[in-house]
Amino acid sequence: MPPDIFSPDARRAAAEADLGRLWARGTDFLGCRYAILGGAMSWVSERNLVAAISNAGGFGVIACGAMTPDLLAGEIEGTLALTAKPFGVNLITMHPQLDDLIRVCLEHKVGHIVLAGGIPPGGAVRAVKDGGAKLVAFAPALVLAKRLVRSGADALVIEGSEAGGHIGPVSLTVLAQEILPHIHDVPVFVAGGLGRGEAILANLEMGASGAQLGTRFAAAAESVAHPAFKQAFVRANARDAIPSIQLDERFPVIPVRGLVNAGTKRFLEHQAETAARFQAGDLTKEAAQLVIERFWAGALRRAVIDGDVEQGSMMAGQSVGMVTSVQPTAEIVAELVGQAVAALVARRG
Ligand SMILES: Cc1cc2nc3c(=O)[nH]c(=O)nc-3n(C[C@H](O)[C@H](O)[C@H](O)COP(=O)(O)O)c2cc1C
Repeated sequence: MPPDIFSPDARRAAAEADLGRLWARGTDFLGCRYAILGGAMSWVSERNLVAAISNAGGFGVIACGAMTPDLLAGEIEGTLALTAKPFGVNLITMHPQLDDLIRVCLEHKVGHIVLAGGIPPGGAVRAVKDGGAKLVAFAPALVLAKRLVRSGADALVIEGSEAGGHIGPVSLTVLAQEILPHIHDVPVFVAGGLGRGEAILANLEMGASGAQLGTRFAAAAESVAHPAFKQAFVRANARDAIPSIQLDERFPVIPVRGLVNAGTKRFLEHQAETAARFQAGDLTKEAAQLVIERFWAGALRRAVIDGDVEQGSMMAGQSVGMVTSVQPTAEIVAELVGQAVAALVARRG
């Protein structure tokens, strides 16, 4: 008997093949089964979560953050012990030992280096590429996307303001329309506010090669985040994840999206008190700016590792509303893929 192409199994297989084609450029680039990156999250994206994402068919990325080269080497080795699948490393461009960190990645044959926190310096771009790794960079606007491609980026991430952590001013909805139709030379991965497979699918159909998620993975079972941190994610709604508020235009505040808590309220008072001390002549403008910036020093660690969900920095994206339980990483990945496939099946009638 000929195979029944209208059977549920056949329709599902056809939809899976469609999805495979839609993100083929992303999976080829990353060397994994699904073009789903686990966005690097300081303190959260260490060996356990990174390996779990890669083992589930996605692409884990270690967050180097403020680690020293030795610590990063240990983290890469720890991850290699937990997975044989590809994974990447995210380095912050303003790290004072950026060159040494790149060297550590190259020595450990890390295939993909993500440079975050600003336009990567030319020397770093060359070091990554000469060392044989692929360079991934963040593009906050079309002109910068074009410039990054010209200067050698092998792939781009466009991250909307819905995301958790440090954010730009523009939503993914708008960035996707601004950038995806115009960048064809390299794969572009979308990030920010993505919590379901249908949304990933919609972006693939607009030309993205894959998606990067952070918030949903932060609450995964394998994440080392404190149980209180994960439970706060489970409880929170999209509207609880707001950008940090700047009180005084003389003292800029870097926008960081996270859950509102006692710390975010105290930050407003801290800004007001500091501005008053400047006004009274107790502090120079530069000193006042530093006092404001230092408020959050060590605060992400306090939230993630110590579980201080009231005073710590609870970085989270608006997608936090789609975190409804602490799930194994493989289940999250399977759910995202399943939702995209189901949407494609439904279309096939
Ligand atoms: C707790 C937390 C920490 C983060 N830390 C970093 C970081 O160190 N470096 C970075 O490039 N992005 C960081 N991000 C952003 C993520 O890599 C990712 O792009 C973002 O979470 C995607 O949006 P989503 O949160 O809506 O999924 C962080 C996000 C969160 C939630």
